Amino acid sequence: MRHFLTLKDFTKEEILEIIDLGLKIKKDLKAGKYNAELEHKTLAMIFEKSSTRTRVSFETGMFQLGGHALFLSNRDIHLGRGEPVKDTARVISRMCDMVMIRTFEHSMIEEFAAYSKVPVVNGLTDSYHPVQLLADYMTMIEYGVAENAVVAYIGDGNNMTNSWLMLAAKLGFELRIATPKGYEVESTVLRDALDFAKESGAVIKVMNDPKEAVKGATIVTTDTWASMGQEDEKEQRIKEFEGFMVDGLMMCLADKDAKFLHCLPAYRGQEVSEEILESHADIVFSEAENRLHAQKGLMVWLDRQRG
Ligand code: CP
Ligand code: NVA
Repeated sequence: MRHFLTLKDFTKEEILEIIDLGLKIKKDLKAGKYNAELEHKTLAMIFEKSSTRTRVSFETGMFQLGGHALFLSNRDIHLGRGEPVKDTARVISRMCDMVMIRTFEHSMIEEFAAYSKVPVVNGLTDSYHPVQLLADYMTMIEYGVAENAVVAYIGDGNNMTNSWLMLAAKLGFELRIATPKGYEVESTVLRDALDFAKESGAVIKVMNDPKEAVKGATIVTTDTWASMGQEDEKEQRIKEFEGFMVDGLMMCLADKDAKFLHCLPAYRGQEVSEEILESHADIVFSEAENRLHAQKGLMVWLDRQRG
């Protein structure tokens, strides 16, 4: 049995196999064919933070696969009133076939997984958002920009940055990260990524100059400057991230056919300009749609691992 907590624990072949499976299920769906491989199975979804895409994609995906999804907000279950994670894990995993969790500390999901009898999927923690990267890479394949990709990530060193680092390090593409001073990625995550990069041939560069990072990049991406849980820092961050908005001038420095990706929700006028988001709306909303297809691939893949 496998959990899906970070891309660290997956090989390049496994990551591509999951995305391929998602693409196949997507193609079948578009042709009107449903894959009902998870019939009679139940996915428990524990949310300790807000969500639009993650909730809708997992719930819809599980339904389309013939199964059922349970939305469990921490306001409603006893976890939010102090029932231990390890007890919650043992109860839920005796009844459900898979568990998706969106929470704060990554250690919570690790503890849950350690006590779970069924696969646990990370639906975002403060440290990683790996399901988003499955959808992002699927979108890069579909738009023909996965080969020889040079990705520039501009903005906060957060869960998305850590996840891009792991994807690049495992798959072997070039990733340049530009963050303001004081908002760099965690050194332990960077160290892990650089270790994996030795094997995959990935080129990973971290810097504080966004213009240098985007120069010639084939993909430019960013994320909110204040993640969930950092709402109080928002005003301060807006000041400190000056010069880091992905706008027309910044995109001009990238490759002339460069694509823009954003995991959403986007804050126009902060990490991205209205003009850039709207002119790349086709790929950005395909990226959002691909959450559904990529995660269906993931759920089927994890279920098959259990035999
Ligand atoms: N990108 C993403 O995970 O969106 P939600 O927060 O809406 O789930
Ligand atoms: N970094 C953002 C991602 C949202 C999908 C957050 O954690 O809020």
